[in-house]
This record gives sequence, structure tokens and C-alpha cells, in this order.
Amino acid sequence: MTNGAIDRMTNGPTQPSEPYRRLLVTGGAGFIGSCYVRDVLARRDGTEITVLDKLTYAGNEANLAPVRDDPEQAARLRFVKGDIADREVVADLVGDVDAVLNFAAESHVDRSILDPEAFLVTGVIGVHVLLEACRTAAHRPRFLQVSTDEVYGSVPEGQSREDDLLAPRSPYAAAKTSGELLVRSYVVTHGVDAVVTRGSNTYGPYHHPEKLIPLFVTNAIDDKPLPLYGDGLQRRDWLYVSDHAAGIDHVLRHGRSGETYNVAGGVEMANRDTVTLLLKHLGKPWSLVRHVEDRPGHDRRYAMDGSKLAALGWRAETSFEDGLARTIDWFVANEPWWRAARSGDWDAYYERQYGQRLRTAT
Ligand code: NAD
Ligand code: TYD
Repeated sequence: MTNGAIDRMTNGPTQPSEPYRRLLVTGGAGFIGSCYVRDVLARRDGTEITVLDKLTYAGNEANLAPVRDDPEQAARLRFVKGDIADREVVADLVGDVDAVLNFAAESHVDRSILDPEAFLVTGVIGVHVLLEACRTAAHRPRFLQVSTDEVYGSVPEGQSREDDLLAPRSPYAAAKTSGELLVRSYVVTHGVDAVVTRGSNTYGPYHHPEKLIPLFVTNAIDDKPLPLYGDGLQRRDWLYVSDHAAGIDHVLRHGRSGETYNVAGGVEMANRDTVTLLLKHLGKPWSLVRHVEDRPGHDRRYAMDGSKLAALGWRAETSFEDGLARTIDWFVANEPWWRAARSGDWDAYYERQYGQRLRTAT
């Protein structure tokens, strides 16, 4: 019943009856989207993927290097640089596929507090453009919207279930909620075949170093301060990235149209405890941690009930200890990758987000 990895469910040649052989993966050069592309191309012969990605600061074609290094897989990957809000590009690509998986989004809560506009353009207009293309395509491809547990807002106790009230509290979460509601409207009004996944906080290789775990790992490697927001007792439910990709794939294949599925990590941790484990693995001292001013509107806790997807035969299987060790070891071994991700506007962003906080930290 518990198959975390795509290969354990769907390994081997694509069957002639395979309904989702040609995929459009938007945001496929980002953290989770690139994992999905790498895992599916490596494990499912015959599947062809077109990636549509705008290559924002968070997108990186190098995330697809393992595919490029294998000529057989590379032949089944096409990369298109473009925007999901661009009608012409999208209509052209959607015309050729069996399913569209939308990973594309601005994904960082802190940046949505500093500069929300791009979140709305990609998360609302972009999703609408994709849905219109699916609605008008002659063969009606399936649409999968990758969403997040943040649509539930902060969950003081218990676990969020799919039919709970949506109560987003950050511009990021509000944009993701809006995208989901558009999907729902296209299912009801136009009969578009669509499913939604809500994933937990995800971690793993190729994670952009702006997020908690990769930021703290890479800062700690450099013996730089680790800016922990508030008291550090906020709680997150962690999901290893290849588990997240596999959960999404399971919903693509087995989810019922119009339904939403939590892809739960099942690993609830206080941020302080996550940082303690991370420092222990790296052999670095707690004295690197700085308690800095909290994030405005910081959600105290996320926790999801994964039983709906478990009833379809899937739940996450990577333990936090294993996943965290694999993640940290990957960052230690791939320093050029994360140093490149900390270039461009990184220093300006870091100063804006952390400069004053760190100068007044305890
Ligand atoms: P990411 O920021 O690493 O990647 C996003 C990708 O989308 C990038 O490659 C970027 O270039 C691309 N993109 C952004 N705007 C675009 C546009 N307008 N057109 C085309 N491409 C565009 O994000 P991620 O962490 O991989 O998240 C992927 C999806 O999963 C997002 O929808 C996010 O909301 C959702 N999600 C993320 C998490 C998490 O913890 N990271 C958890 C649950 C759900
Ligand atoms: P993050 O990785 O930004 O994911 P999200 O906001 O989507 O949950 O943050 C995870 C947790 O870590 C969250 O409670 C905020 C906290 N955090 C810090 O304490 N310091 C930081 O520098 C960052 C980026 C996050």
C-alpha cells in the first residue's frame, strides 16, 4: 500500500493503454517540478515530457542535467522557455499532450510579503490561461494543479482534511487558493477533467537556498548566522521531494476528476528541532542560530490528514532522518549548484529580508 517512489508503482515500459504518455510540465525547472521530470523520465519508458518554464530566479535548467546526461531520456524531454500566462505558447503546447501538470508558481512566502504581484499574475492569470487551453483543446487533456497545505492557513490543532475551510493568510497562500478555486470553477462550469494536490512543506536536493532547510544548511557550511523567525516553535509537516513527486503522479493516474488530495508528509516538526537535527548532521554549533524578528502573519502550524490519498493506495514513505541526511549530503556535494543559486539578486534580497533583522537579533 505504501509506495513512495514512482518506480515502485509504475516502473517499466509505458503500456499502449497508458492514458498519460505525453505530458506538459509547467515549472519543470524548479525544485519539485524538476524532481517529477527526472523521476518520471528515468523510470517510465516511453513517456514524453515538454517542460514550460519561465526561468525566474528560482528556475534552473541545470536541475534537468541528469536527464540531459542520458541520451535516451534526453530524447524524450523538450524544454520551452516561456510563461504560463502567455496564451499563444500555452495553447500551442497543450494541443499536443495527454495531461498538463502545473507546478509553475512563485513559491516563497517571504517574497510574497515583499513583492506580491508576480504571485498573483502566475497564480491566478497563469492558471486561468492553462485552464482555458485545456477547455478548448479538442482532446481535453487532464489538468493537475499542484497546490499546498498553506491554503488551509494556520492549524492550531488536529489535521486539515480536504473539505475543510480554506483560510490562506499570506499573499502566496491567497494566490494558491485562488488558483485552486479557478480549477474548481472550470470543472463545474466547463467539465474540464482536473484534479488538485495539496502538498506539505517539501525538502530535498535542488531546493532553492531561500527556504528554511537549504538556507540553514548552506549558511551553516559557510559558518554564517542562521536567522530563525520568532521563537522557532512554529511547526511544519515535512515531505521528501521524490515522495511529493510520486504522490502527484499517483493523483494524476488515480485521482477522480474534480477532487482534491492532500499529499501529506506525516512528519511534524518544530522548526527548532529541524535546525537541531540539521546542525548535528553537519557537525556545526547551535551558536550560529540567531532569533530574528518574526515573519508577519507567520502561520504557527501546518498538519494534514493524508487518509484520502492513502485510500487510493499512496502515502509518503521517506523518514525525516533519511530524507534530511540525503538532502544535507547533496548540498555538501553540490556546492557549485547552490553558490550559483545565490548569485544575481541574491545579495540584494538577503539584505532586504534579513539585513535589519540580523543586526537587531538576539
Ligand atoms: P520553485 O520556486 O522551486 O519552482 C517554480 C518554477 O516555476 C521555477 O522553475 C520557475 O521558473 C517557474 N515559474 C514561475 N513562474 C512561472 C511562469 N509564470 N511561467 C512558467 N514558469 C514559471 O517552486 P517549488 O518549490 O518547486 O514548487 C512547485 C509547486 O509546488 C508550486 O506550485 C508550489 O506552490 C507548490 N508547492 C510547493 C511546496 C514546497 O514546500 N516547496 C509545498 C507544496 C506545494
Ligand atoms: P519556508 O521554508 O519559507 O516554508 P513555508 O513558509 O512555506 O512554511 O519556512 C519554513 C519555516 O521556517 C517557517 O515556519 C518559516 C521558518 N523560517 C525561519 O525561521 N527562518 C528563515 O530564514 C526561513 C526562510 C524560514
